[in-house]
Amino acid sequence: MRCAEYCEVVANRPVATNQFEIEIHCPTVALHAQPGQFVQLRVQGGYEPLFSRPFSIFRRFSERGNFSIVYLVRGTFTQLLSHKHPGEKVFIVGPLGNRFVLPEPPSSVTHLLVAGGVGAPPLYLLAEEMVQAGVPGKNVIVVNGSRRHDLLVCQEHFAELGVRCFTVTEDGSLGIKGNVTDVLKSLHERGDLPRAGCQVYTCGPTAMLEAVAKFARKHHLPCQVSMETLMPCGLGVCLGCAVKVRSGDGYEYRRACVDGPIFDAGEVLWK
Ligand SMILES: Cc1cc2nc3c(=O)[nH]c(=O)nc-3n(C[C@H](O)[C@H](O)[C@H](O)COP(=O)(O)OP(=O)(O)OC[C@H]3O[C@@H](n4cnc5c(N)ncnc54)[C@H](O)[C@@H]3O)c2cc1C
Ligand code: FES
Repeated sequence: MRCAEYCEVVANRPVATNQFEIEIHCPTVALHAQPGQFVQLRVQGGYEPLFSRPFSIFRRFSERGNFSIVYLVRGTFTQLLSHKHPGEKVFIVGPLGNRFVLPEPPSSVTHLLVAGGVGAPPLYLLAEEMVQAGVPGKNVIVVNGSRRHDLLVCQEHFAELGVRCFTVTEDGSLGIKGNVTDVLKSLHERGDLPRAGCQVYTCGPTAMLEAVAKFARKHHLPCQVSMETLMPCGLGVCLGCAVKVRSGDGYEYRRACVDGPIFDAGEVLWK
C-alpha cells in the first residue's frame, strides 16, 4: 500500500551538525514501510526544486501514524526542508522500492550492519526489526562510521536496541579512529564473522559501499547494498536512477527506484 498526498510535519529537530530528523504524519507509511524502503518528498509551493528527492525511512511511530527520516542539508531541497515547521505540509509518495531481506529464520545467522553518515537510519529500522523478530542483540553487529563525532547519527537508538555497536570516525574524535573497513577487518581477524552464517547489509556513500562489497566478496559473505543514485521520479519512469549490474557474460541497467534501492552487492558493477 502506498500514499501520494500532502502530509503534516509534526517535528523537525536537529540531531547532528547539519542534520535533522523530520517527523511526518502519514499513517500509510507509518504502517507499511519496510527496512530499506524510501519516500519521495516534495516541498510545497513553487517549481524550485523541480524534482522530488528520495529519503530512507528511519523510524515508524505506528500508534500515532507518524514516520521520520534523517536528512543531511546538502543543497536547495534539504535547505528548504530544514525550514519546515510543525503544521506545514510536504508531499509524500511512498513507501517505495524493495527492502533488505532477512534469512529465514533471522536468528540463524550473525547480522553485520555497516553504516556511513546518513546511511545509518535505514539500518536502524532493520536492526529494530531483527530484535523484534527475536534475534539476540549479540548477533546484530552495527559498525557506524562518519568523518567526525558531530556527524554521527542514530548512536543512542542502536544502543537502546541492545545490539553490539562499533563507532568509528575518520579523525578519531569518537570511537575507533579509521574507517568502517578497518573495523570489519578486525572483526574478521577476531573470528566474529562466521563464514557459514554471516549476512552483511550496508548503506552510505558509494565509495564505502564498494569497499564493503569488496570485503564481503573476499570473505565469501552475502552482502546487500542500498544504492544511492539520483532519483528524479522515483516511480520507474525516467531511467535517471540506472544501476549497472552483471547479466550473463555482460551487463544491463536496473532502476534503483523500483528494482532497488537494495541490490545484491555481488551483482553491482561499480566502475
Ligand atoms: C534511496 C535513497 C535514499 C536516501 N536516503 C537519504 C536519507 O535518509 N538522508 C539523506 O540525507 N539523504 C538521503 N538520500 C540522498 C538525498 O536524496 C540527497 O541528499 C538529496 O537529494 C539532496 O538534495 P538537495 O537538493 O538538498 O541537494 P542537491 O542540490 O541535489 O545536491 C547538493 C550537492 O550534494 C551532492 N549530492 C546530492 N545527493 C547526493 C548523494 N546521495 N550522495 C552524495 N552527494 C550528493 C550533489 O552532487 C551536490 O553537489 C537518499 C538517496 C537515495 C537514492
Ligand atoms: S527515478 Fe525515475 S526511473 Fe528511477
